[in-house]
Amino acid sequence: QIDVSHYISEDQADQEREVIFRDYPIIVATSCQLPEPGDFITSYATGVPALVVRNRDGAARAFINVCRHRGSRVESASSGSKKRAFTCSYHGWTYDTDGNLIHIPQDYGFDGLDKSCFGLRELPVVEKHGFIWACHAPGESFEIDGFLAGVEKDLDGFKLNQWHHFETREIPCKMNWKLVMDTFFEGYHIGKLHRQSISHIFHEMAVTFDAYGPNHRLTIARQNIEELRNMPDEEWDVLPYTALVYCLFPNTILVYQADHIEIFRVFPGDNPGESLAVLSFLTPEKPETQKLVAYWQKNLDLLVNTIQGEDFPAGETIQAGLSSGAQEHFIWGRFEMALAHYHRTLKDLLGRTPLITRKAAE
Ligand code: FES
Ligand SMILES: [Fe+2]
Repeated sequence: QIDVSHYISEDQADQEREVIFRDYPIIVATSCQLPEPGDFITSYATGVPALVVRNRDGAARAFINVCRHRGSRVESASSGSKKRAFTCSYHGWTYDTDGNLIHIPQDYGFDGLDKSCFGLRELPVVEKHGFIWACHAPGESFEIDGFLAGVEKDLDGFKLNQWHHFETREIPCKMNWKLVMDTFFEGYHIGKLHRQSISHIFHEMAVTFDAYGPNHRLTIARQNIEELRNMPDEEWDVLPYTALVYCLFPNTILVYQADHIEIFRVFPGDNPGESLAVLSFLTPEKPETQKLVAYWQKNLDLLVNTIQGEDFPAGETIQAGLSSGAQEHFIWGRFEMALAHYHRTLKDLLGRTPLITRKAAE
């Protein structure tokens, strides 16, 4: 069971911001979102303005998107490509893709200033297994595999960097970010909440749960899994007959859906009752015809409609009732093991200091 204050407490929200969204490695992009040197994205969702860019050598770099002159935002576009340098729109200080300050307009106004001391503040970043992770506080580098605790074997199997980043959409939610995460942690609701939309595709009670350190995987059987009965065991392949739902702790959900991949990254909003879900939709390859683009667009719209029309409204009613006094705790049944695992992990993490957490995982 879990105390409902977990979703409404301001103190907890502050602590999460500090411990989880600053110190813990967070996925900032998929590798296929930034395929070429000069490709970049910016984000503000963790509370720290971040600029993630692929440099000239093809390496992912992350910086605080704050100008070292007087603190204006350096890059204001949410994404872009072929960028060689980032110029602050306030007075024009310019940084290269490694964060070095390379130009100051009328630099005679800054006699003796050593440009090498005024590069963008770098954030520790790791690119591996098809993802780019960053910590949102400057500091030492980290080793991501310690945090993944075995789930990286599955990620490697998907060869995520060979997929195509089709689109990323932001969905504002009127509920705590952890309620958005909870949406993905059981199949128990599929038969009821999704009875008009997707319940005919899945066996909602045929779900397995596996934990990998702080992360976990749910395997939800599709109805077509019955076909395997007539096939020899050695020909069985799990992917076409299931949906694999991974929680990459703390705030990412990866859903492997047989023919496409959905990645949700969830961030706290300005108060504990708001959040932002960032959905990235990956297709096996770049759609080269209008027809294919329309096909994937339709798939993405269907997904967003199901989530926004069914899952998220349910979560938003939960949020709206949390302060009602109806109950102090929620209880989880045996189909909801992933919720227990996730929230226990989160609670343990918040009980420790950030430094110990980072070290412990290494
Ligand atoms: S604040 Fe960026 S150039 Fe002045
Ligand atoms: Fe759902």
